[in-house]
Amino acid sequence: MSRVTTPKETFEDSFMVSLRPRTLDEYVGQEKIKKRLKVAMEAAKIRGEPLDHILLAGPPGLGKTTLAHIIANEMGAHIHVTSGPVIERQGDLAAIITSLDFQDVLFIDEVHRLSRVVEEILYSAMEDFKLDIMIGKGPSARSIRIDVQPFTLVAATTRSGLISAPLRNRFGMVFELDFYSDVEIKEIVERTANKLGVEITEEAAVYVARRSRGTPRIANRLVKRIRDVATIRDSSVITLEIARETMKMLEIDDHGLDNMDRKILKMIIETFKGGPVGIKSLAASMGVEPDTISEVYEPYLLQAGFIARTHRGRVATEKAWKHLGYEKSIGPLWNGDV
Ligand SMILES: Nc1ncnc2c1ncn2[C@@H]1O[C@H](COP(=O)(O)OP(=O)(O)OP(=O)(O)O)[C@@H](O)[C@H]1O
Ligand SMILES: [Mg+2]
Repeated sequence: MSRVTTPKETFEDSFMVSLRPRTLDEYVGQEKIKKRLKVAMEAAKIRGEPLDHILLAGPPGLGKTTLAHIIANEMGAHIHVTSGPVIERQGDLAAIITSLDFQDVLFIDEVHRLSRVVEEILYSAMEDFKLDIMIGKGPSARSIRIDVQPFTLVAATTRSGLISAPLRNRFGMVFELDFYSDVEIKEIVERTANKLGVEITEEAAVYVARRSRGTPRIANRLVKRIRDVATIRDSSVITLEIARETMKMLEIDDHGLDNMDRKILKMIIETFKGGPVGIKSLAASMGVEPDTISEVYEPYLLQAGFIARTHRGRVATEKAWKHLGYEKSIGPLWNGDV
């Protein structure tokens, strides 16, 4: 069973398309990004040019895919969706790019997983709207250059650090999505409840927002789980009591941490005496992949101040010790020195 609090997309989420905002105005939060996007889109429309290429970076579940669809929608453009790991050869990407119409949006998800060879043909396509295609094999092989329709590449990544400089430099706009504030998440919680046809009290919405880890995908999922409990209790309103009961059942605490998060913190505190511990040792002792720790669990634990990154590894902060009810004396306490 997957965690309710995983920010990664699950099978059930893919049926939540109707919860996806379709316009910039419906898209809650990320105000700076929306402002810059509005100006860029307006200007591109006036000039009759395609929008500049855009890189969207940030942890899972914050709204990158949603934003890519909104951009295409607002520009009145078609969107072609693909992702880094499924494009195996240069020819695959070339075929997609040559099929694009003027001003279309090409959305490449997980762009950090494109192979270097495939990535290379993007350079001239992005910069000059030209494709270099190899014809033939061996000594008689030659490359020809063809024109493609001016298009907009919107790329998303959860690992902006893994994007090569030549690729990164070709984006006109790079947007780093941030975790949402409690107020913003509360708005998303209320809208989602509304779309799902259930009422939610003000205090319940605040309560759920605080446990959503600043992540819209998690907020939506929690609302669905709480709605289930409301249904069973034969209530058309999500009350604080129902929200509380659901969180207890899901073992999600007041900071939105679940068992796995608490296990990670406990591991750092008990086995590694509070850290610092390298991501690889930590992952090995938890029996998970290092990438899973750094992409799925760590971003929120860092953001919420439960762990800190030092040059020698991760440490559990005082907040983590206190939250899990440890006495300071059981090991060396992080002194704030990073
Ligand atoms: N700003 C927002 N306002 C309202 N709802 C949002 C917003 N951002 C995201 N959502 C909701 O959260 C869900 C997850 O967002 P989305 O799929 O766009 O995340 P993502 O950043 O692409 O994640 P991943 O890295 O896993 O692909 C969406 O289905 C949408 O319902
Ligand atoms: Mg996505």
